[in-house]
Amino acid sequence: MNTPTVGILVDGLIYSGIKTNVSYFEHISFYEEACIQFGLCPCFFRLKDITIETNQINALVKGNKGKYEMKKIAIPQIIHNRGLFFRNESKLKIKNLQKSGVIIFNDWNRYGKLDVHNILMKNEELQSHLPETKRASSGNFIEMMEKHKALIIKPNSGSLGGGVVMVEKKDSELWEVYYNQKREAFATEWPEIVRKKVSNKNYIIQERIPLAEYQGSPFDLRVSVQKNGIGEWQVTGMVGKVAKIGNYVTNVAKGGTCKTLTELLNDFSDLDFNEVYYSIEDFSIKAVTELNKYFPYLADVGLDIGLTTEGFPMFIECNGRDLRITFGKAKMHEVWNATYTTPISYARYLFDSKIDEE
Ligand SMILES: Nc1ncnc2c1ncn2[C@@H]1O[C@H](COP(=O)(O)OP(=O)(O)O)[C@@H](O)[C@H]1O
Ligand SMILES: [Mg+2]
Repeated sequence: MNTPTVGILVDGLIYSGIKTNVSYFEHISFYEEACIQFGLCPCFFRLKDITIETNQINALVKGNKGKYEMKKIAIPQIIHNRGLFFRNESKLKIKNLQKSGVIIFNDWNRYGKLDVHNILMKNEELQSHLPETKRASSGNFIEMMEKHKALIIKPNSGSLGGGVVMVEKKDSELWEVYYNQKREAFATEWPEIVRKKVSNKNYIIQERIPLAEYQGSPFDLRVSVQKNGIGEWQVTGMVGKVAKIGNYVTNVAKGGTCKTLTELLNDFSDLDFNEVYYSIEDFSIKAVTELNKYFPYLADVGLDIGLTTEGFPMFIECNGRDLRITFGKAKMHEVWNATYTTPISYARYLFDSKIDEE
């Protein structure tokens, strides 16, 4: 039987890891197992390994001895993107590939948080799950301070919890800014860190969601939302990230720890696990369906979703490339594996739909 080749587009670090047999975030064997399950053959490559003009690609393909070898092959018709591309040149190359008929799914390359917020706000059903968000400016900061008790100021296309500042109202006059483990009180005179962030157009100001806490530290959830083997959106899994003691960002890169939702909800005796789970699932599917209208190749995202103490899901951000390792860190091995299997099952679905068309 003919085994179609599915392309997995990776960045330089993961690529060199495959060559040297070291795993950097991506669990290559999960892809291999998933491909066996769905009758596909995986090959790995970087964007620069593709030559559109000759329809050829230098890809890493597993050879007879079980080692990856470089082979010149035709560009696979279905490509699962796992890279992030910033340069216009790279984005153009992806567009040109798509124009030539290749399906590259999950080509999302960092849409700003403000754009995502504005898209989701258009759907009335989602509005109550979205914290108020504005572009950073002095005027917007003053306006937001009048409306909310605490604010988050963060990069519009940030990453890994870097540059996130929190300001909190202490009494009618006094505020406090938290940044890099430091606190500073202020009233009318804004501290330098606040002035700097608020005047940076690449930042946004957001109402701080009063996140539910686990042993005194706020937590939120990473929700893996993916297209599956019948081409439909599903929540493959969710996992909690608990901030390091004294911190207000939950990112693993900032010392956050990963826990299952069951563990996190243990202390909330009045919350029903299933009810909370389904409300997160329902919101997540609605949110990605909305985003999918604007980003047609969307197929695999990691949402950051906060929970209020009432168990109400609040949207924090959408990651176009979920590193998936939060699931591994919480020892949720089956779900971790499924976050790899599901996009491959979607690739199989795409192959089959293509054959039906022909
Ligand atoms: N509006 C908010 N309310 C409460 N916590 C927030 C808010 N925005 C961000 N955070 C905290 O900061 C973390 C990092 O913010 P996020 O928007 O996910 O940016 P990044 O791209 O850096 O991960 C979140 O996981 C959450 O813990
Ligand atoms: Mg995040």
